[in-house]
Amino acid sequence: MSIQTVGVIGAGTMGNGIAQACAVSGIDVVMIDISEAAIQKGLATLSGSLDRLLKKDKITVEAKAAALSRVRVSTDYNELKSTQLVIEAATENEALKVKILQQLDAVLPPEVIVATNTSSISITKLAATTQRPDRFVGMHFFNPVPMMALVEIISGLQTSEATHNAVRELAEKLGKTPVAVKNAPGFVVNRILIPMINEAFFVLAEGVAKPEDIDAAMKLGCNHPIGPLALADMIGLDVCLAVMDVYMKEFNDSKYRPAPLLKEYVAAGWLGRKSGRGVYTY
Ligand SMILES: NC(=O)c1ccc[n+]([C@@H]2O[C@H](COP(=O)([O-])OP(=O)(O)OC[C@H]3O[C@@H](n4cnc5c(N)ncnc54)[C@H](O)[C@@H]3O)[C@@H](O)[C@H]2O)c1
Repeated sequence: MSIQTVGVIGAGTMGNGIAQACAVSGIDVVMIDISEAAIQKGLATLSGSLDRLLKKDKITVEAKAAALSRVRVSTDYNELKSTQLVIEAATENEALKVKILQQLDAVLPPEVIVATNTSSISITKLAATTQRPDRFVGMHFFNPVPMMALVEIISGLQTSEATHNAVRELAEKLGKTPVAVKNAPGFVVNRILIPMINEAFFVLAEGVAKPEDIDAAMKLGCNHPIGPLALADMIGLDVCLAVMDVYMKEFNDSKYRPAPLLKEYVAAGWLGRKSGRGVYTY
C-alpha cells in the first residue's frame, strides 16, 4: 500500500516531530489535537525546528515552505478520512488511547492502518480494542524525531505482515532505520537501556565510583554519548522508576528490582533536570 497522507494524533513533543519528518519527506499530514492552543503550539515547534535546519543549510527556504504547506491541522477526527495511515502520539495513558482508537474506528475506512507511538503499552492489548487488529502496529519513534534515526516497528500478536511491511516502508521513506520488534515490555531499546540505568544506581549506592566517574567510564569505555546517570536526569528519575516497576510486574523476575537509591531520590522529589536536581544539580 502506498501511503501519501498520514494522520497524526497529538501535536505534542512526538506528534509534531513525526508530522515534521513526514512533511519534509513529501508526505501530506493531518495533525490533530484537542485544542486550538495545543495545535498552534505544535505548529510553532515544527516551524522553529525547520528554521534550525534552514540555518544549518540542511534544507532550503523553498523546502521549508513546501513542508509547512503539507501540514494540515484540525481538532476534528473527520479530517482523517483521507489518510492511509494514522499514527497515534497522544498522551501516554491507556484509557485515553483506547478512547482515541474507538474514535478512529468510527471515522476511518477499514483499510486504513493505525499505528501507536506508545512507549510502554502492549501493542497486542491495544490491537484487541480496535476493529482492525491486523491493521494495528507499533511505530516507536525516538525524541527528537527529526534527528533520531531509529523507529522500532512493533508487531502485536494480531499484526499482519502487510501492515508491518507498509509502515516499515514509510519509516524508510522518512529516512529512518526501522527495526522489527515483537511485542514485549520496553520493546528493545528501553528494555536494555532502563535496566542499565537502574544498575548505575546500584553501582552508585555501593560506592563503587562517584557519579561523574560512573558516567565518564560508560562514555569513554563504551563510547556512549552520555553517561547513564546524566541520562537518567534527562529522562526523569520518576519515569525510569515507573518503567522498572512495569518490568518487575510484567516479568515477575527479581533481576528487574528497582534500585533502592533510585526510589529514594524519587521519594525526595529529585527527579532530574525537570526538578532542578537528580543525581546532579541543575
Ligand atoms: N517524549 C518522548 O521522549 C517519547 C519518546 C517515544 C515515545 N513517546 C510516546 O509518544 C506519545 C506522546 O508523547 P509526547 O511526549 O509527545 O507527549 P506530549 O504531552 O508532549 O503530547 C501529547 C499531546 O497529545 C494531545 N492529546 C491528548 N489527548 C488527545 C486526544 N484525545 N486527541 C488528540 N490529541 C490529544 C495533548 O493535548 C498533547 O498535545 C506517548 O505515548 C509517549 O509514551 C514519547
